[in-house]
Amino acid sequence: MVRVLFVCLGNICRSPTAEGVFRKLLTDEGVANKVETDSAGTHAYHVGEPPDHRTIQAAAYRNIDLSQIRGRQATLEDFKNFDYILAMDEQNKHHLLELAPQTLSQKVRLFMEFSSNYSEIEVPDPYWGGASGFDRVLDMIEDAALGLLDEIRTRYPL
Ligand code: 4NP
Repeated sequence: MVRVLFVCLGNICRSPTAEGVFRKLLTDEGVANKVETDSAGTHAYHVGEPPDHRTIQAAAYRNIDLSQIRGRQATLEDFKNFDYILAMDEQNKHHLLELAPQTLSQKVRLFMEFSSNYSEIEVPDPYWGGASGFDRVLDMIEDAALGLLDEIRTRYPL
């Protein structure tokens, strides 16, 4: 089993979107029994909450159901349990590297490294903006998710 954790600040906008998009891709590709995914926040502001209603709605338009996801904060155990720990932006990455045991810090990367169609290295935080920000987050995440699965396929026999 390959395990992928997506991490943003609050775990209510970007990382639950990435979890839902990636899980749908895994199901569509028939590898959902080989790759597991989860999401977490660097901060505890929204622990136990469902994703932001705008996040749920934007994903629902693309037939992705995020309503069952509940916010949680990233923990030390995550660095043992996951093979990829993918930060949405540089600040998230910085916080993860502060928490990571040094021997496992190579697991932490920026998710947008895996994108082919976007030159941005960060998924912008849509929390304080309008509805279009949530669609753009979905577009970016869908693109990076394809590259991530390609990368996993080069490293693991799925
Ligand atoms: P996320 O967005 O990190 O993509 O879940 C945010 C959600 C909440 C806050 C900031 C960003 N907040 O400050 O509460």
